[in-house]
Amino acid sequence: MHKVTLLTPLQIGDLTLPNRVLMAPLTRMRATDDRLPTDMMATYYEQRASAGLIITEATIIMPEGAGYVNTPGLYTDEQVAGWRTITDAVHAAGGRIFVQLWHTGRVSHPSFQPQGALPVAPSAIAIAGELMTPVGRRPYETPRALETDEIGGLVAKFAEAAQRAQDAGFDGVEIHGANGYLIDQFLRDGTNKRTDRYGGSLANRARFLLEIVDAVKEIWPVHRIGVRLSPSHDHGHMVDSNPYESFTYFAEALAQKDIGYIHIREANDTDRYDIVPAIRDLYKGVLIVNEGYNKTRALDALESDRADAVAFGALFIANPDLPIRFRLDAPLNEVDPSTFYGGGAKGYVDYPALALSVA
Ligand SMILES: Cc1cc2nc3c(=O)[nH]c(=O)nc-3n(C[C@H](O)[C@H](O)[C@H](O)COP(=O)(O)O)c2cc1C
Repeated sequence: MHKVTLLTPLQIGDLTLPNRVLMAPLTRMRATDDRLPTDMMATYYEQRASAGLIITEATIIMPEGAGYVNTPGLYTDEQVAGWRTITDAVHAAGGRIFVQLWHTGRVSHPSFQPQGALPVAPSAIAIAGELMTPVGRRPYETPRALETDEIGGLVAKFAEAAQRAQDAGFDGVEIHGANGYLIDQFLRDGTNKRTDRYGGSLANRARFLLEIVDAVKEIWPVHRIGVRLSPSHDHGHMVDSNPYESFTYFAEALAQKDIGYIHIREANDTDRYDIVPAIRDLYKGVLIVNEGYNKTRALDALESDRADAVAFGALFIANPDLPIRFRLDAPLNEVDPSTFYGGGAKGYVDYPALALSVA
């Protein structure tokens, strides 16, 4: 068998990724106030078209899913047209792009909600702390627990967004089940105290995610659907009484759905336990890993068969041509975290590609 490298092509169903250096989903908060994608966003993604696969920034499926300003949406025809400009630009530059479908659940605030309603969640449990809202810093409020008969409607909203993703020319969708947002809130018992068929047992906690997968399968070929999970991450103050047992169960359930890939955001306490090998054992589809990888660690991950591909966040922000820099062992641009969220071209579309930076 040939040794797998970062530049070995990878097959996801009928989709060929030319390399295994993937762009992680990255919220940059540069859409319009109406959550429309912009031409500058098209430039940003086009610059990164050499990624094996681009996974877009998290994109809300409905207005109620918002938890931050200037994050894009995928629920109007205008948004579809805006995204179409982006997918066309990426394809013309030889790239492939999936959109990450997002609902923030309790990581929202009435100031983001139509009519100032409470955000929704599996259970009425608030996050401790504050968030930045359109009206300044505010404490998180206690979300409203979803009624059982509302949940089917939310699943349908994910499917509608998946349809719009197809209309916008994306190559597939990544369902955002990570980082403490709505789906993750259902998965973990720290945030899911429901007593109906969406809470309690692992099968019940997995139900919302699996219903979304099934609904999206009606629209996309199954290998064009990825799911992102963050089993060992506490982003959004997530806790689970037994994350190892929970997430191996969820991965096994996803294995039965035959989806295109599972994408694991690994940290931040992998020192305590490392769940990736267990998931690798029971899930035979494409496995993507992420967080804290550089070229050496990524190569190790591929060579040791820890995963099939690695997604890069910060490094892709700062290095639009990351795969070629890895290939040439070229120096990397330094990332500027102060320009991560919001603002204009600075720290967004002005990181130089290699030819320019060595000229
Ligand atoms: C600016 C920024 C925005 C992010 N936005 C998202 C997002 O929209 N969706 C998501 O799943 N993860 C998001 N993340 C997490 C990244 O996808 C990734 O997991 C994290 O940056 C760790 O990978 P890295 O060490 O290669 O940067 C974001 C991270 C950063 C730094």
